[in-house]
Amino acid sequence: MKDIMTAPFVKEMCETTANMYRLYWDERNGGNISYLLHEDEVAEYLDTTKVIRTFDTGFEAPDLIGKYFIVTGSGKYFKNVEKDPEDNMGIIRIAEDGTTAELLWGFKDGVSRPTSELPAHLMSHQARLKVDPENRVVLHCHPTNILAMTYVHELDAKKFSHTLWEMSTECIVVFPEGVEVLPWMLCGTNSIGEATAEKMQNARVVLWAMHGIYGAGKDLDETFGLVETVEKAAMIYMKIAHLPKVNTIQDSELKELAEYFGVDYRKDYLEA
Ligand code: 13P
Ligand code: ZN
Repeated sequence: MKDIMTAPFVKEMCETTANMYRLYWDERNGGNISYLLHEDEVAEYLDTTKVIRTFDTGFEAPDLIGKYFIVTGSGKYFKNVEKDPEDNMGIIRIAEDGTTAELLWGFKDGVSRPTSELPAHLMSHQARLKVDPENRVVLHCHPTNILAMTYVHELDAKKFSHTLWEMSTECIVVFPEGVEVLPWMLCGTNSIGEATAEKMQNARVVLWAMHGIYGAGKDLDETFGLVETVEKAAMIYMKIAHLPKVNTIQDSELKELAEYFGVDYRKDYLEA
């Protein structure tokens, strides 16, 4: 059996959490990631018959039975993942009952558990897999500018998406479906999980007002890039929102961009 510390998915999680921390997206224990792993990928490094502990997730995820995820731990700091992956992350499998998570590796202190946002993660995985069977990542974090923007911009998905698209030329190409927005809700609950998953049917980005962002994608790089692009657009907005706007990207130009790059964009979000 190979050493799990050399597994590409462990290394990628270390790199991603470190990058997110350095970008101020994940203060203290802020943020969490879940990454769907294939059984054969896990079996190269672990005896999948050995369950260390189990957790009651408190909800049912029938579509995820038998699926494996590497997840960050509740209360764990992204700052520390790289120096001690086995303490800060775990590999879980959803058991036959669809509600128990079986720990196969990690959380080595013996008491830690997966992120408190597991409902939002697993429910979002279920929702995204229905739309895109290739989706493997759900990532949550607290990027400074997107969070700031939810304090000063109307929380309407169409208006929010349009503003973000206007903030840089690549936006409509990177997230042509726009972003979905939830009002402030209590985090860590099944309710916010259900609301997030519902929005995830329409878009890979769901904003949690006054809290942060959820992003989904095929792999860590793509999902990181998606959040990075949204956050960069929000950064531009926060730099210019208080200044007189002299120029912008017109709707006709956004349409031109989307058509040139052949992306399936929300046409109803443009006036053109
Ligand atoms: P966890 O430490 O439980 O992952 O929670 C962090 C967070 O961002 C809550 O929304
Ligand atoms: Zn959070």
